[in-house]
Amino acid sequence: MRGLFVTIEGIDGCGKTTQARLLHKRLLRDGIDTVLTHEPTDGQIGKLIQKLLKGQGEVPAKLLALLFAADRYDHVEKLIRPALQSGKIVICDRYYHSSIAYQSSMGVDEAYVKCINDFAVKPDLAILLRISAKTATARVTKRKHVQYTEQETLQTRVQQKYEQLCREGELIPIDAEGNRADVQRKIWALVSEKLSERHVHYERSAP
Ligand code: TYD
Repeated sequence: MRGLFVTIEGIDGCGKTTQARLLHKRLLRDGIDTVLTHEPTDGQIGKLIQKLLKGQGEVPAKLLALLFAADRYDHVEKLIRPALQSGKIVICDRYYHSSIAYQSSMGVDEAYVKCINDFAVKPDLAILLRISAKTATARVTKRKHVQYTEQETLQTRVQQKYEQLCREGELIPIDAEGNRADVQRKIWALVSEKLSERHVHYERSAP
């Protein structure tokens, strides 16, 4: 039996970390075995990425792309794949669609980004929390020092890339300009639909 893999994407300040936590809580409350995780990870490579992003000056875009892919490889092998194989639900706050959107917006060839991420398990449900770059930047600026990946011009390009991924059917968009409970309800509608599809599938595949 394979679990369900849900990823949540969006520009910085879209509220995905809060929403990922709320979804996790809701599933646990319903007695469903669920793991909440995020990228960059808290592993060795993830920590190095976080340090580089917080530091002074920009890191070469291609180097960042390779580091994110290496961090993801470790994440998939150590956590995501085993959890899915044991039938758990995995919620991941950012995944390879972040690399496609951010690294290609920083100038790395999109085909190259896809190629170095070709090992990544495909999500069953990849959600985009859609918000304007202006609202997102205002939120980010209010709460902390702004990293160079969070500047409004880059965020606008990233948002456009995310929109392209929606048109290609890679991501399902949700309007995230509204209040927290509203967004939570919309995410739950998508997840519960997937869960019921799975339930039917499991019943059918039962001996
Ligand atoms: P995140 O942890 O979501 O931001 P925060 O620390 O503000 O909660 O991600 C950190 C930054 O890394 C964010 O600006 C997006 C960027 N990022 C990429 O550029 N590529 C990737 O593949 C991932 C996973 C994140």
